[in-house]
Amino acid sequence: MSDTAEIKEKKKVIFSAIQPSGTITLGNYLGALRNWVKLQDDYNCIYAVADLHAITVRQDPKAFRQNILNAYALFLACGIDPEKSPFFIQSHVHTHAELAWILNCYTQFGELSRMTQFKDKSQKHADNINAGLFTYPSLMAADILLYQADLVPIGIDQKQHLELTRNIAERFNGIYGNTFKIPEPYIGKVGAKVMSLQDPTKKMSKSDENVNAWVAILDNPDVIMKKFKRAVTDSEAVVRVGEGKDGINNLIGIMSAVTGKTEDEIAVEFEGKGYGDFKTAVGEAVVETVRPIQEKFNDYINNKDYLTETYRKSAEFALRLSQRTLDKAMKKIGYVAR
Ligand code: TYM
Repeated sequence: MSDTAEIKEKKKVIFSAIQPSGTITLGNYLGALRNWVKLQDDYNCIYAVADLHAITVRQDPKAFRQNILNAYALFLACGIDPEKSPFFIQSHVHTHAELAWILNCYTQFGELSRMTQFKDKSQKHADNINAGLFTYPSLMAADILLYQADLVPIGIDQKQHLELTRNIAERFNGIYGNTFKIPEPYIGKVGAKVMSLQDPTKKMSKSDENVNAWVAILDNPDVIMKKFKRAVTDSEAVVRVGEGKDGINNLIGIMSAVTGKTEDEIAVEFEGKGYGDFKTAVGEAVVETVRPIQEKFNDYINNKDYLTETYRKSAEFALRLSQRTLDKAMKKIGYVAR
């Protein structure tokens, strides 16, 4: 990554981020990360570990620090190439928190109250419904708008936040003239909503108390196999996509995402076979997908010097780029230049 990366041919700009929770799930990988990796050659991609977002729920300091580094190393292991795609830690780039404050003042209480993630999380953490949890979407909007992103690769669950980002940007542009690019969501055809293995009407989420509901990228192979063998299915015993077959639909979706086979090809391959065989096959396919990632993760996490150098360099780049947008927005509002 060099300065010239800033003015690379007019490729479209992509921004995305993932929170550094202790467990990065198969849902995060198939819904978002995998697409981040694929998009690197065709777009100017900028990626971040969204650690500012993570303190809307209470974090243990020691575990939090380790989780941020683990997430960083894991995303490199998944194939993020920081030479092509600046990849930084959100809290290292102060423009994010600054623009977030500004955007808070252009975001309505009613809009934030309608966010389903806010409603879900405030139910789950009824003892800690903090202002950060409520205004979280303004920070996410700042992340995206600072880089004038054209596209934002996300899973379906983040679509509502992206729509709000667009509304905030349009409102600001409406008042002050063109300041922010209006971003579009980029949602993959497969894997955009990986469901819980225990209740396939709900999305796979690391915050699920039932550990069998989710698969972590860093789960060991035995654990992955056990979780798939315990996955909830139905009583029809036919491997095909269909109504009322949420569990099997989800497993077929995962199989399709990791092998590249279509749903029909999978149905033909498992014709006449039981769910036991199918669940084992899905488990094995997932194990094979994560195996090389796990090996690389171990190399990266043990190479602290490389990690430090990489996230610092990326943060410097991100700061230079984002400062331009922040300065532009502040000037339009009427702030006195530094
Ligand atoms: P987060 O950290 O919850 O999830 C990261 C990404 O993974 C996707 N995802 C899923 N996709 C498919 N199936 C699932 N079960 C599943 N679970 C999660 C999410 O859609 C997301 O793309 N607020 C964001 C992080 C963020 C961000 C941003 C994203 C902060 N700033 C700017 C884009 C742009 C979040 O909490 O995602």
